[in-house]
Amino acid sequence: MRAITLQGLLVGLLPLVCTAPALAFSSGITGRSGNPATNGGLFCNSCHAGGAAPEVTLTGPSLVATGSTHDLVLAIRGGQEVAGGLDVSATGGTLFPIDPGTRLQNGEITHLSPRNVDAQGTVSFTVRWTAPSTPGTVTLYAAGNSVNRNFGPSGDLAATTTQVINVADTVPAPGEAAGATLTPLLVTGRDAGTGLLSLSYGVACAATGHRLYVAALAGPPAWSAAVCEIGATGSYAGFDPGSGSIAFIVVAHDGSRDGSYGLDRGSGGIETERAPAPASLCSAVQDLAQRCDAAP
Ligand code: HEC
Repeated sequence: MRAITLQGLLVGLLPLVCTAPALAFSSGITGRSGNPATNGGLFCNSCHAGGAAPEVTLTGPSLVATGSTHDLVLAIRGGQEVAGGLDVSATGGTLFPIDPGTRLQNGEITHLSPRNVDAQGTVSFTVRWTAPSTPGTVTLYAAGNSVNRNFGPSGDLAATTTQVINVADTVPAPGEAAGATLTPLLVTGRDAGTGLLSLSYGVACAATGHRLYVAALAGPPAWSAAVCEIGATGSYAGFDPGSGSIAFIVVAHDGSRDGSYGLDRGSGGIETERAPAPASLCSAVQDLAQRCDAAP
């Protein structure tokens, strides 16, 4: 009886063993993010070899509020400059497959199929992560594999990176961009052909990015359009002001909260905080109570 049972098991298992690679690898793999808790910290290079090593980076915040949600970008530069895949795991909180080229498996994010490089030779994936509801330290482990699309693990090579995130109950919210002690918002150039404006501004404290909010000058001031992400470098080229007269400001954000919109002289000449844009424009809620700069 025992021998028959074993034979049945082997026959049943064989097809699985043969088909698993095609299903599991070019269409994603988990447990190989370099996380010491899975497979002893192994990553893609236990099978993939022979290619040039890429540079893999994970960009996101290092201090966040409990329960807050953030998008991190995994970028694979250099290497084969053909295509790439990923595996990202977290020691706490929850990962979400926000990027349409990715899926969730065993709580980790991996690719659905190899993603080709962009015009800069980079493969990037966005990963969404929600912090745990209790304070602590979370590590995100990420492996990025630079592959040559030969349908096999040869001529490829991966690299790993980690992002340590402190999760705290209260975290300072962004202050005012281009505020009193910072570089004011300036138009530094205009492309005569396209009409696009180049801007510079002072980066706000606690900012992970900035937005442009636009209001028509006619009628009561109301933010009606936005460029929801212009980065946190202090300059931005490519703002299309459209036609007609507009007002625009730069506002800092930290991935979830908007900072100060600055002061405006209201009726009676008293300076008050400008009214924020409707949350619908950039899915952002303002937080002035926790601002990292002193309210003027
Ligand atoms: C256990 C061995 C193994 C591990 C570990 C592994 N792979 Fe693979 N991978 C394969 C094999 C075999 C193939 C070829 C078969 C296929 O395409 O599914 C492959 C193919 C791929 C391809 C397509 C390659 C090409 O040139 O066409 C990508 C992308 C990929 N893997 C990503 C990853 C990533 C990312 C990791 C690490 C997080 C990883 N793999 C870890 C075995 C592995």
